[in-house]
Amino acid sequence: MAASSSFCSQRTLPLRTPSHSHSKLSSRHSLVRLPASGSYSYPSPYLYSESNNYCSGTRAAKIGLKASATPAAPVMDQTSSSSPAVSTVVEVDLGDRSYPIYIGSGLLDQPQLLQRHVHGKQVLVVTNTTIAPLYLDKTIWALTDRNPNVKVESVILPDGEQYKNMETLMKVFDKAIESRMDRRCTFVALGGGVIGDMCGYAAASYLRGVNFIQIPTTVMAQVDSSVGGKTGINHRLGKNLIGAFYQPQCVLVDIDTLNTLPDRELASGLAEVIKYGLIRDAEFFEWQEKNMQALMARDSRAFTYAIKCSCENKAQVVSLDELESGLRATLNLGHTFGHAIETGFGYGQWLHGEAVAAGMVMAVDMSRRLGWIDDSLVKRVLNILQQAKLPTAPPESMTVDMFKSVMAVDKKVADGLLRLILLKGPLGSCVFTGEYDRQALDDTLRAFCKS
Ligand SMILES: NC(=O)c1ccc[n+]([C@@H]2O[C@H](COP(=O)([O-])OP(=O)(O)OC[C@H]3O[C@@H](n4cnc5c(N)ncnc54)[C@H](O)[C@@H]3O)[C@@H](O)[C@H]2O)c1
Ligand SMILES: [Zn+2]
Repeated sequence: MAASSSFCSQRTLPLRTPSHSHSKLSSRHSLVRLPASGSYSYPSPYLYSESNNYCSGTRAAKIGLKASATPAAPVMDQTSSSSPAVSTVVEVDLGDRSYPIYIGSGLLDQPQLLQRHVHGKQVLVVTNTTIAPLYLDKTIWALTDRNPNVKVESVILPDGEQYKNMETLMKVFDKAIESRMDRRCTFVALGGGVIGDMCGYAAASYLRGVNFIQIPTTVMAQVDSSVGGKTGINHRLGKNLIGAFYQPQCVLVDIDTLNTLPDRELASGLAEVIKYGLIRDAEFFEWQEKNMQALMARDSRAFTYAIKCSCENKAQVVSLDELESGLRATLNLGHTFGHAIETGFGYGQWLHGEAVAAGMVMAVDMSRRLGWIDDSLVKRVLNILQQAKLPTAPPESMTVDMFKSVMAVDKKVADGLLRLILLKGPLGSCVFTGEYDRQALDDTLRAFCKS
């Protein structure tokens, strides 16, 4: 079956001016109808000057985000790591559930940032055994400094995806109930995506919903899981099967927390950063091609910028399609193949971003076989993933049948048809579609598997 020509139509997004009010959002929602599958490409969001500088404030306005008071974020050179990091704010526009994402260095040293989003007098910090010794005291200080009326409790959960379950969730409720947390209390997630997802789901259901703040401490959480309101836990029969859409009051990304993050976790998060460039932001991808070494060297200004661009992209997708009726699915580039790797190879063997990286290579390979992208883009994807020290092929033990059996039960199967996110057209354009030649999928699987 050949791809339908309707997928060639390009979608552009409405631009939002700084005067855009929340009340206008609902009318925009009703205007933007999202197809179950379609082609998504966006107006070039960056300004790129001869001096190699990006003007981020203007860019934010151009891609329809509330402009932040951010000075221009320069492209990194290797000498910039000693300069102070700029902090920035990205607004997630969801009407009366809108919230800011603060990004920068030293944000946990600014108590007023956190305190302004704590409404009641009781706070429950949810964290784990790895992060508590590193950042719990600092977080409690930030919550209580010159704020004697607030009472902070904490619950320290075991570390690991295997604990993202109902039993561990109950420990959060136990602590909240024992501490007599009332409806005006605030839950604070201090950690990576596992803690963020669990704490968010606890906040969504405790007393039918209490305030919630995200302090993400992994790249994965800072660029992806803390933004957009997906919360939940795993069931023994599958990942993230129990959960809720629940938005936080704010997200506070203190990039200094990345200093203690293991290299492998850092690289895993970069897979999602690369993903945003590929699916919708060509100039961000080009910036990454020039600055991947700075990111790998944990240059704080490079990271502030990469997290900002990633959050802007995710925020915009989420504000257009909060409940994933179409556009939001494009954030899953490489995830269907990647999920098969995580399941087939065994959870915990490869990190999520590592599986997604190999999955993106497979999706890109398939897009090329369909004739939807140029060979040169395939090379650029391989090159940037190699620079980020991410895998570019699935583990050798993966077979065609392993891929097929997991992909057959993917959440994106509709009416027996597997819909995939594939690249189509120039860099920064993708489709979410079930209309592709099945042979191309078979050829890709065979090309990457020995049997
Ligand atoms: N809600 C969403 O939209 C969304 C999106 C993507 C991923 N997720 C979920 O996120 C989870 C993966 O998140 P993750 O990659 O952050 O994994 P994670 O939360 O398990 O963190 C990875 C490891 O790093 C440790 N760690 C965290 N911050 C640290 C720091 N600053 N210094 C040292 N160690 C630190 C953690 O304790 C853990 O051992 C998965 O459960 C996935 O389902 C959710
Ligand atoms: Zn992911």
